[in-house]
Amino acid sequence: MTQSNLIDFDTKTQSFHLHNDDISYVLGIEAGGVLAHLYYGQRIKQYHGHLKSPRLDRGFSGNLPKSSDRTYSLDAILREYSYEGDGDFRTPALVVRQADGSRSAFFKYQDYTISDGKPTLAGLPATYVVDEHEAQTLTVNLVDEVSQLTLAMRYTIYRQRPVITRSVQIINNGEQAVHLEKIASMMIDLPVGEKDVISLLGGHANERNINREPITFGTKTFQSRRGTTSHHMNNFIAIADTQTNEFKGEVVGLSFVYSGNHKEEVSKDPYGTYRIAVGINDDQFDWEVAAKDSFQAPEVIMTYSNTGLNGMSQALHNLLQQRMVRSKYKNSVRPIVVNNWEATFMDFDEARLQPIVDEAKDMGIEMFVLDDGWFGHRDDDNTSLGDWQVLAKKFPQGLQHFANYIHERDLQFGIWFEPEMISIDSDLYKNHPEYMLKVPNRTPSPSRNQFVLDIGRPEVRENIHSQMKAIFDNTDIDYVKWDMNRNLTDIYATDLPASRQGEVMHRYVLGLYQLLEELTTEYPDILWEGCSGGGGRIDAGFMYYMPQSWTSDNTDAVARMKIQYGTSLAYPISSFTSHVSEAPNQQTGRYTSLQTRGAVAMSSVFGYELDLTQMTDDEKQAVKEQVAQYKQMRQLVQYGQYSRLIDPNEGNRCAWMFVSDDKNEALVFSFNILSQAQPENKMLKLVDLDADKVYEDVATGDEFGGDELMHAGIYEPAVFSDFNAMIYHYKAK
Ligand code: DGJ
Repeated sequence: MTQSNLIDFDTKTQSFHLHNDDISYVLGIEAGGVLAHLYYGQRIKQYHGHLKSPRLDRGFSGNLPKSSDRTYSLDAILREYSYEGDGDFRTPALVVRQADGSRSAFFKYQDYTISDGKPTLAGLPATYVVDEHEAQTLTVNLVDEVSQLTLAMRYTIYRQRPVITRSVQIINNGEQAVHLEKIASMMIDLPVGEKDVISLLGGHANERNINREPITFGTKTFQSRRGTTSHHMNNFIAIADTQTNEFKGEVVGLSFVYSGNHKEEVSKDPYGTYRIAVGINDDQFDWEVAAKDSFQAPEVIMTYSNTGLNGMSQALHNLLQQRMVRSKYKNSVRPIVVNNWEATFMDFDEARLQPIVDEAKDMGIEMFVLDDGWFGHRDDDNTSLGDWQVLAKKFPQGLQHFANYIHERDLQFGIWFEPEMISIDSDLYKNHPEYMLKVPNRTPSPSRNQFVLDIGRPEVRENIHSQMKAIFDNTDIDYVKWDMNRNLTDIYATDLPASRQGEVMHRYVLGLYQLLEELTTEYPDILWEGCSGGGGRIDAGFMYYMPQSWTSDNTDAVARMKIQYGTSLAYPISSFTSHVSEAPNQQTGRYTSLQTRGAVAMSSVFGYELDLTQMTDDEKQAVKEQVAQYKQMRQLVQYGQYSRLIDPNEGNRCAWMFVSDDKNEALVFSFNILSQAQPENKMLKLVDLDADKVYEDVATGDEFGGDELMHAGIYEPAVFSDFNAMIYHYKAK
């Protein structure tokens, strides 16, 4: 069947219109071959050419070369991409250091292509299509005539998603090398209006707090300079109208598909327009593009919603789940694990772990995860990273013996690695001190008393690859937790000349992606879980290799409400994991009930992280019931439509819910944080249900119309204890 076009070029208005049923994105070729931004938002049928930036003599703006038109202000028109040196004095997306040392360029429109489908980005993670008709891709080529650099701007629009992806590539057709000092993956100028920027910031054990602020004059930068995505600032931002809330209003989400240094710049200029740029952080970045070579910048996903933040998140969740994750487990319900980290830390051996496995079996748990401390001679975190051989003292009969023990009990076996790291106290360091990231004649900075391998170098990757392979080929392993417990310092690669040391951070990420690509394709049956001291590397790019990640080292139920609420803004529920740990909590000292810890953890990919053998009989019985309950609900939790209802950052409550695709089933999780005397009446209004269906509360048998639950709502019971959790389960009759 022929499918309608998603991208049109109108010769009369010289504009490209990317459209589907929901959205339109219009860009045009302005005088002088400048690529201008015209419109992005709700679908319009046709663009008639009236949105060219108003012509006005903006004093002190650059004008077009060879033109006497003073009203063509390069500093003020809305652009699709900008570069240093042409009279647009706003934040540039691209800075090229030319062979003559200048930073001048003028990229002029040359030609375009429109093709079905979506090309892959060599060596980089990216969203994909499974059918060529699912999307169309526009490539607009701009050329800097003097240096013969081509700037290929790529836009893909999906047919049935409110999603456009963007990336850029520099192709050097000239005779001399140039240096990229900055190359954002996307930039957009938006017209006047009052807008907020939403970011996800925090720190270790406190990731992805939702931070919303008005965009005011000047430039605000969100970034990581840590070599990785970071706990501190996630590489997702959203630009929302000030009136937009969870349920209503316009918002655009921007997800950077990358796991290294990133920068999101948000500016407002004196003419009231906005400039947004997202890409690799230009700090510590300088990439040489040799003659006849090219550089591909990573992808940015743009998700438009006019149904508020939930609409944006839902579109993004579905896209990432279905068109970023490639794992064979992408649509499978994920196993319930017990992880021994908070139970034993590194103080264990097989005999100590076996009873935990036995308890897990009895409780219906499906996987045992052996965390840090099983290799080298590691009894604490000062040693052995890089020596991925089994510590015989802890596993006297070998690791396969323990794997058998677990598998004989019908559980799966998972194991922890931290492949990118090296300890000074390791055989790897003794044999290959040169594998460590380190600047000659300087003493490298430790962090958690460990150092980083230069994974950008092939021989380093090969060493780690072969060590991991030896474990995988000799042990039946079902799951791997890939951890990373420090950020990058001492940035220097021994295989690069001084003039190219600005490439090291990005080469690290490319090397990491290559290693992940090799291992995940070689071992596709392993369920891979990302981790970086909790959620330090949760980003869209990592999901290309690992369908799930450990959300945070903070397992406290109350702290997790905010962390999980924030994480859900940009990441699907099936992609982040949550465990019930002991009370009082090891990170906060807070006591919460097993029921509340269970309800918070059951709101994503579920497991336990405590010593099951130390529980009372009543607690063990409660765990059995939780496990059975989660097995009933996990399809809906992991793959249903998720909505945030009440933001824990705004008061004493938190709520979210899940609805099945056919709208026949809904689960609602509601938390009351602190108890109050004479509390206000608490009402809860649900969303996404079928207004015409009648739903039964499974626990009470009470019946409600879908419209009643959504518009009239329900009263929640008054509770007189702290940290209370309610789970409501509705089924259509
Ligand atoms: C940090 C992780 O987030 C923890 O879950 C645990 O695996 C430790 N590292 C082990 O060192």
